[in-house]
Amino acid sequence: MTWEATADLVVVGTGVAGLTAATEAKRLGLNVLVVTKGVADDGNTRWAQGGIAVAMPGEASQHDSIRQHIDDTLVAGAGLCDEDAVTTILVDGPGAVAQLRHEGAVFDPGPDGRLARTREGGHTAFRVIHAGGDATGAEVERALLATARTHEVAVLEQTVALQLMLTSAGACAGLVVLDESGIGMLQAPAVLLATGGLGQLYQATSNPDVATADGIALALRAGAEVADLEFVQFHPTVLYTGAGAYGRRPLVTEAVRGEGAFLVDGAGARVMEGVHPLADLAPRDVVSAAITRRLLDAPGGIDDHVFLDSTHLTRPHFQARFPTVFAACAAAGIDPSVEPIPVAPAAHFGCGGVVASVDGRTTVSGLYAAGEVARTGLHGANRLASNSLLEGLVVGGRAARAVASDLATGAIAHVRRAEAQRWPVVPIADRAALQQAMSRYAGIGRDAVGLAEVAAVLDKTSAVGALRSRRDVEDAALAMTARVLALAASEREESRGCHVRHDFPSRDDARWRTTIAYRADDSGAPHMVSRYELAGVA
Ligand code: SIN
Repeated sequence: MTWEATADLVVVGTGVAGLTAATEAKRLGLNVLVVTKGVADDGNTRWAQGGIAVAMPGEASQHDSIRQHIDDTLVAGAGLCDEDAVTTILVDGPGAVAQLRHEGAVFDPGPDGRLARTREGGHTAFRVIHAGGDATGAEVERALLATARTHEVAVLEQTVALQLMLTSAGACAGLVVLDESGIGMLQAPAVLLATGGLGQLYQATSNPDVATADGIALALRAGAEVADLEFVQFHPTVLYTGAGAYGRRPLVTEAVRGEGAFLVDGAGARVMEGVHPLADLAPRDVVSAAITRRLLDAPGGIDDHVFLDSTHLTRPHFQARFPTVFAACAAAGIDPSVEPIPVAPAAHFGCGGVVASVDGRTTVSGLYAAGEVARTGLHGANRLASNSLLEGLVVGGRAARAVASDLATGAIAHVRRAEAQRWPVVPIADRAALQQAMSRYAGIGRDAVGLAEVAAVLDKTSAVGALRSRRDVEDAALAMTARVLALAASEREESRGCHVRHDFPSRDDARWRTTIAYRADDSGAPHMVSRYELAGVA
């Protein structure tokens, strides 16, 4: 059966960016529909532990400032951030967090009556605010969902985004979805992708099952550009529970290191000593790469985990400050106040994505993107810890205002009917084979031969077919994203940020101070379309 609905804006995804955008669009008088393939709160947002990085007037540490937050972001981004985007987003941060608090989000207080602030990797100041100890994402999601409900934002759950509808001129005209009753045609002049991340490209990830790169594939199939996909951030400290870990792994927030914990190898030697001036609080790419090197250098060959020593914290203190981590450790039979926590790096965050402005506009008229799925230029080659919830709040709000403005100026408009689209018939991955190849050849440490092997595995194991279920849609998205990621990673013949090439171990600013964009041709094959040269950045 086929059904139809009309809206001014369709939002895909119910994480921080999607809910912020949907509520703001409602406030602006737009008719909004939100779709999610699962239930409203099962996205990535609720798993965020550390917090929100923000230098707020009256709340920031004495020596902190927005300028310093910008500088830390640029340094972490390893020369590939867009400084204008960084500045715009971080300057808007305090206002966005104030709005969130106004809507009911409660952050932990510190002893001086102001908000408690912690440090994470790459931050030179205590500026990460948090909620429920290490349950910041859950509190942000709770507050945003409650506000969305107050504003009567309609959320269609168990509704899978199948394909964007386009006009004959190639502008976005809505979204085809799949739910238990069949196919739905959501006619709308604006669609916002807020679909989150891509962690399920890998065998072990901090991301939930829903993080299957859906938005990247939707955008590519609609002709949009993506960029910086080669920069996949691996979180250094994901709880290690034995060899062959698979699927979502519990995170051990970087804030534990912010409170004095440190990494040691199997012989008890410090991992980060002498590696970086910030030692255990170096930017995340540096820490993950150092752990990986230490494991490869382990006597007797490849080891698979190191340890996070937090035994200076008492049990009651650890349990109160990090209840989520404590519970995960307890479930694995570990008491972090008396024994070091076994940890290993795992896929955590895609720094690149659909090329979008700081107002969420993409290279396809009427298509917007915000949050992890978007590449705004904030993260460069390596995201600064706890900048992502902030980006979702700021760009989500700005994207809603951009849609309202584009409707008002006539830059986008309702069309009577979009072009009939062919039912998507595309390569659908064998997920296990894809994850194995990506983990082996496209994780931390890659080379040309391994990246070519990813493409070969995709060729051998994917089956071309029609998208008839959520699983098909996800496996097709993983196949397409893996292919572009492997291509982008093999093109970038240098090591920078999260992208570490064994065969090109140095950073090469003369050749690679650029971000590269890709598009898919009609057959779905990716190719490079442009390079954005960056200048004047750290
Ligand atoms: C963490 O708490 O370590 C993760 C926070 C983030 O990814 O920004």
